[in-house]
Amino acid sequence: MSISIVTGAASGIGRAVALRQASLGFTVFGLDVDEIGLLETKNLGGGDIRLLICDVSNPVEVESAFSIIDQAGLEINNFVAAAGIGLYEKYENMTFDQLIRVINVNLIGVLEPAKYAYQRMRSGSSMVFVASIMAAHSLFNSVAYSATKGAVVAAARTLALEAGEKGIRVNSVSPGTIDTPMLRRDLTSMNRSEQTEFISKVNAANALGKIGTPEEVADLISFLISDQASYVTASDYRVDGGFGALKKF
Ligand code: NAI
Repeated sequence: MSISIVTGAASGIGRAVALRQASLGFTVFGLDVDEIGLLETKNLGGGDIRLLICDVSNPVEVESAFSIIDQAGLEINNFVAAAGIGLYEKYENMTFDQLIRVINVNLIGVLEPAKYAYQRMRSGSSMVFVASIMAAHSLFNSVAYSATKGAVVAAARTLALEAGEKGIRVNSVSPGTIDTPMLRRDLTSMNRSEQTEFISKVNAANALGKIGTPEEVADLISFLISDQASYVTASDYRVDGGFGALKKF
């Protein structure tokens, strides 16, 4: 059986993808900094889920994770970059350290492991980078986060050109608001009535009137990395309940 590599597999969207890929029979290597979350993912899933504690923004840790993956002696079928952080700050108050951290995790942390995966891939393999609707839409306090997500979309589209020569596909997905621990952490800074107001605003801001689930994002990613999407590359796909299409006045 071949390998599915998923970064951010300890939580949220990455976990949902890892569980899905394991259920399809892939040997899943889940990379994450959160050891406890990774163990939870393994315990939740059947199949062959292998855990690698790895800071995807650290090139030394990424190299050593891939040397362990190499030892499995299996072909890499697909790579999904779902590790990421949300760091929302009025730009005038953002420190240089915060800026570097967002760029390191959300951009370098996608591209560096993707390079290792790509070097090992053969024709028929594929990659998906998890971006965000914030690549294309502007919300307050998100200059750095949005910049990294726009870069991730551009990187996937551009890597798809050289990868296409080898028969390898690369796409990105742009989720809207998804119910994951990342969203729940954002809500903890609000009191109960602010939370209720925020959730009703989010619900009203998409055509389906609800927040998405990690599994709904995993459905799209799982399709994009499968052979069923064999003519699909160099594109970004929204999974946002219609957020990007809706205009309210
Ligand atoms: P999450 O916080 O539930 O999961 C993110 C995972 O990435 C965590 O397990 C965390 O430990 C891991 N991670 C963070 N920094 C890391 C690092 N340096 N090295 C390795 N692992 C690291 O978040 P969620 O919601 O599942 O987000 C997944 C991706 O989806 C992120 O890239 C996020 O920006 C993106 N996204 C999420 C949306 C949402 O509403 N939840 C909306 C749009 C995009």
